[in-house]
Order: sequence, then C-alpha cells, then structure tokens
Amino acid sequence: MKHLLKLGDLSKEEILSLLNLADQLKYERKHGISKEYLKGKKLGMIFQKSSTRTRVSFETGMYELGGYALFLSNRDLQIGRGEPVQDTARVLSRYLDGIMIRTFAQQEVEDLARYGSIPVINGLTDYCHPCQVLADLMTVRERKGSFKGLKLCFIGDGNNMANSLMVGAVKTGMSFAIACPEGYEPDPALTAWAKENGSFLMTRSPAEAAKDADVIYTDVWASMGQEEEKTKREKAFCGYQVNDAIMSAAHSDAMVLHCLPAHRGEEITEEVFEAHADEIFEEAENRLHAQKAVLCKLLG
Ligand code: CP
Ligand code: NVA
Repeated sequence: MKHLLKLGDLSKEEILSLLNLADQLKYERKHGISKEYLKGKKLGMIFQKSSTRTRVSFETGMYELGGYALFLSNRDLQIGRGEPVQDTARVLSRYLDGIMIRTFAQQEVEDLARYGSIPVINGLTDYCHPCQVLADLMTVRERKGSFKGLKLCFIGDGNNMANSLMVGAVKTGMSFAIACPEGYEPDPALTAWAKENGSFLMTRSPAEAAKDADVIYTDVWASMGQEEEKTKREKAFCGYQVNDAIMSAAHSDAMVLHCLPAHRGEEITEEVFEAHADEIFEEAENRLHAQKAVLCKLLG
C-alpha cells in the first residue's frame, strides 16, 4: 500500500489490517499508552473544501504519533492561483513525508500521487471518501462483532459516501442496498463492480432498501460544491429521509451512521439522530483512530 486514493485500490486483507491497527491505536490511546510511531514525520494537508472532522483528526492524529501536520488551504497555496498539481506534487515531495488532500476532482488526487514521490491520502473528493468509510467499517465491526451476514443500507444521494460505502461493504462481505431517486445513482462503474462481486440492491424504495438492514446510513442531500442545487435537491430527496418508518423496516437493533455534518429534518429526523447519537459520535471519534492507522502504514 503506497497511497490511499480510493478504497477500491485496497484488498480485503489490507482493509482488515488497517482496521486491526486502528483498534490497537484506540486501545493504546484509551489506556494512556503513547508511542511516537511517526516521530519527526511531516504531513501536508491541502484543503480545497471545508472540514471539521478530517482536519482536526488528521492534525491531532499526527501530533499524537509524534509528527507534525501543516494545514494548507487553497486560499493560501499557489494551487488556488492556478499552479499545476504536477508541480505542487514535486515541490511538496521535497519537504514533506506525506500529503492529505481534500478537493473536488478525483483526478487531482491521482495526479498528486503520480507526480509526487510521497504517499498521498484522499481526504474526500466528489467521487469518494475512503477515510470516512474506514472509520465507518471500524464502528460497525466494533458494535456488531464482525461483518458476517450484515446488511448495510444507504438512503439518499448516490454521492461520494455512497460510492465508498458500496466498495467498503462489498470488500468486507456485507450486503449493500441503496435507495436513491432517479438521476442520483452512485457511480455506474462501481455499481457494476458491486453487482459482480457482492450482494447489491439499488431501488427507488427506501423501505425496500432498509428491509432487515443491520446498519442504516445517510448523508446530506447537497454535498459541498452543490449548494446552488439545494432547492432542487430538497424536492428530489423529500421521500428519502431516515425516520421512524424507515427504522421499523430495519432490524430492531439496527445501527444508524452518518458521516456528518447532519441536517436534521432533511436526510434524518432529530429523533432518529438523537436515538443513535452514541453510534454516530463514536463513528466520528473513529476517524482519528482509523486515520492514525493509515498514517502509520503509509508514513511509518
Ligand atoms: N465527515 C467528514 O469528513 O467531516 P468533515 O467534512 O468535517 O471533515
Ligand atoms: N457528501 C458530503 C460528505 C461530507 C463529509 C460532501 O461531500 O459534502
């Protein structure tokens, strides 16, 4: 494993090994065991979009591992004024030990890895969000014990989260169901791959997707960069809310996960969100542990 550009690049064994390391790092942190696995290492964090969790968990993660993280906003970098990513990659490779990038086009992340000579971590693109899904998988396994026989259901937009969750579920042997409105399906190549390699259902009916699910997942209706489509999307997604009716179709002990930030009253009701807040905030905490595992594997 040289980079984390998308989950599809990792084998099942690599994913499980990251999750095992994440569990170990979580245990060590809880028990006050601090080991500087990345002493003196430097991570550059390029953000072309906003972030709370990704920024803070990567930054504190590097600090806890004995390394250092630099926050690089596109408002300050020459990248924001048009310096090509190919040049940025070659320059940053001479200063840093790794780069985390959050941006729009997946191609930019792939180019950074191609032209640079240090590990690149995808901190979210329009196409996928692999770091989030590693934390999600960690949370599911922690609560349910294993992935065996589980069904993960995603309600809403076939966006970056849906794309990565689909891959994560199939790779770990969970069955995956998505309910989304017409025109908002996940990536067609990934959908075809999921159909071939796992148990996959795509439907317009949230109740059908949620039937007997062990994990219900949702995300915002309008992602970063889609702010102008907000009104149009509110109409398209109005039947795609995680609420009590959806939860009654799922198993009675079903978990609810949300990558956050959440819009209560849109993709999820206040009641369902608060009833599952323990799971959702454990999931947010697990970003830290899962990303520390990624950093140790790539920069260690
Ligand atoms: N879930 C997630 O990536 O959150 P941020 O946008 O706050 O980083
Ligand atoms: N789909 C959301 C995820 C945020 C973590 C977005 O891209 O804005």
